[in-house]
Amino acid sequence: MWLYVLFLTVFPVIVSSVPVHLEARVDNGTEPKYVFAHHMVGNTYPYTVDDWKEDIALASAHGIDAFALNIGSDSWQPNQVKNAYTAAEQSGSNFKMFISFDMTILPCASSGDAAQLRNYITTYANHAAQFKYDNKVFASTFAGDTCTFGQANAAQGWQSQFTSQLTGANAVFFVPSFFVDPEQFGDYANAIDGMFNWNAAWPISVTTGVFNEIVMQAGAAVGKLLSSSSSPLTTQISEAVQNVTSSLDSDHQYIDALNKMGNKLYMSSVSPWFFTHYSAQSFDKNFLYLSDQLYPSRWQSIISARDQIPMVEVLTWNDYGESSYVGPIKGAQPNSQQWVDGFNHTAFLDLTQYFVTAYKNGSYPPVQEDKLYLWARPHTKDAQATSDSIGKPENADVLEDALFAVVLATSPAEVTLSTKSINKTVSVKEGLTQLSLPLEAGDTMSASLSRDNQIVVQLVPNNFTFEGSPQTYNFNAFASFASGTNPN
Ligand SMILES: *[C@@H]1O[C@H](CO)[C@@H](O)[C@H](O)[C@H]1NC(C)=O
Ligand SMILES: *[C@@H]1O[C@H](CO)[C@@H](O)[C@H](O)[C@H]1NC(C)=O
Ligand SMILES: *[C@@H]1O[C@H](CO)[C@@H](O)[C@H](O)[C@H]1NC(C)=O
Ligand SMILES: *[C@@H]1O[C@H](CO)[C@@H](O)[C@H](O)[C@H]1NC(C)=O
Ligand SMILES: *[C@@H]1O[C@H](CO)[C@@H](O)[C@H](O)[C@H]1NC(C)=O
Ligand SMILES: *[C@@H]1O[C@H](CO)[C@@H](O)[C@H](O)[C@H]1NC(C)=O
Repeated sequence: MWLYVLFLTVFPVIVSSVPVHLEARVDNGTEPKYVFAHHMVGNTYPYTVDDWKEDIALASAHGIDAFALNIGSDSWQPNQVKNAYTAAEQSGSNFKMFISFDMTILPCASSGDAAQLRNYITTYANHAAQFKYDNKVFASTFAGDTCTFGQANAAQGWQSQFTSQLTGANAVFFVPSFFVDPEQFGDYANAIDGMFNWNAAWPISVTTGVFNEIVMQAGAAVGKLLSSSSSPLTTQISEAVQNVTSSLDSDHQYIDALNKMGNKLYMSSVSPWFFTHYSAQSFDKNFLYLSDQLYPSRWQSIISARDQIPMVEVLTWNDYGESSYVGPIKGAQPNSQQWVDGFNHTAFLDLTQYFVTAYKNGSYPPVQEDKLYLWARPHTKDAQATSDSIGKPENADVLEDALFAVVLATSPAEVTLSTKSINKTVSVKEGLTQLSLPLEAGDTMSASLSRDNQIVVQLVPNNFTFEGSPQTYNFNAFASFASGTNPN
């Protein structure tokens, strides 16, 4: 672990350049790209049609085309689905909805269980706000690879009880997120039109053990080089972590498997964060995924491979329980107030627009306004919470005690990142730059962007102090942003 500590203290500013793993082919603009956001209907109990309209306006303004409505089994959910479709139709925008069946909640053992799913499809097939693809009713899932609907296996279940029963105007374009080895996708050839890669959004393989391995390997690599050159350990670890964070390996596995099936559609995913903290008596999940610089890094990877990725789903709009939301904090939280209240992610939503524009258009748009984004967790990863009965989340070690920044600059500028103990200024080019700076207990954070010694943007997040001794564990991100014309 000492190696990692060194990384944080010796070379404070890490300027990362994202490795591009694929040559983007020239896009001739004939294939439209879509960006969706996963909307947990289960968290919308108090929503009115106007609440939906507010979400639609916000999502639409940031380039999102539709909500994937994650449906569970609560009796009130069908009514919220109706409100969502109504709001989209009335919104006056071209915003759409589609159903994403949550198969960890909906029953799917008997053939009768499929009727409920088909009913959702037939109810909205002709709705003006239904998202269609290839002239068919687009539908997705979370999981569902163990659903048999009374048949011999899941592939037969979905095919005979769902896909093939929906015909004519009700025909579906079905892109589920089955958690199966891509090698087995062929088994589902008659049941699906594509696959949604839910887990591509996070480097889920980076557990504490894997992370320690990365640090050890970096140490060994640097050890060999020390005599001849000066490749610093920090760069090595940072690069290895960045490699994992930007990896498209999971996407390629899916794309290769789907291409073998005759060009089935691929839907990828991107997420700003993941942390969940429920006791064994509650939802019994207490873990996180490596998220630090994930959002800007993953988006850039997706954009580099955009010619092979026709659709991306942002995970999520409002899953407060897993800290992955980009939408506003509203509706009914699933007992996640402890790590969500005061931690809006509107900065991630704002940043989304820049990437969506690049993803859809094939080239990064010129930056119209100087912007600074800053985020950090609220306490050190080694902190022992003074009154938290649930315990430290799994994989806490893989994170960095640091602030993360994204700069969008209209032209070259000087950016200063500050904590209580460090002021660090770097020159940034026009466009996007990712930066980070280590944080220690007691640190505050702020940033500014200047040209010709004139401050153009200043960001001093209210009320942020990096704690060394929190009461309860919170590995969510505190995020904020400011722009050249509208500092907040
Ligand atoms: C665009 O590319 C597709 C396939 O790569 C091709 O079929 C199509 O003809 C091209 N369209 C134009 C306008 O070049
Ligand atoms: C990161 O990925 C690049 C490109 O694949 C590779 O050349 C480099 O060795 C990797 N760095 C580390 C530290 O793993
Ligand atoms: C899309 O990219 C082209 C250059 O490839 C540029 O001329 C055009 O303005 C871009 N459109 C948007 C909306 O950024
Ligand atoms: C960083 O710069 C600010 C503004 O010039 C100054 O107020 C502050 O004392 C500096 N902090 C450190 C640690 O040097
Ligand atoms: C600042 O933090 C205090 C204590 O945690 C809290 O009571 C207050 O509401 C916060 N203010 C803002 C503006 O977030
Ligand atoms: C979101 O949080 C940031 C940082 O605390 C704060 O500056 C901003 O006002 C908040 N925005 C909303 C819409 O709550």
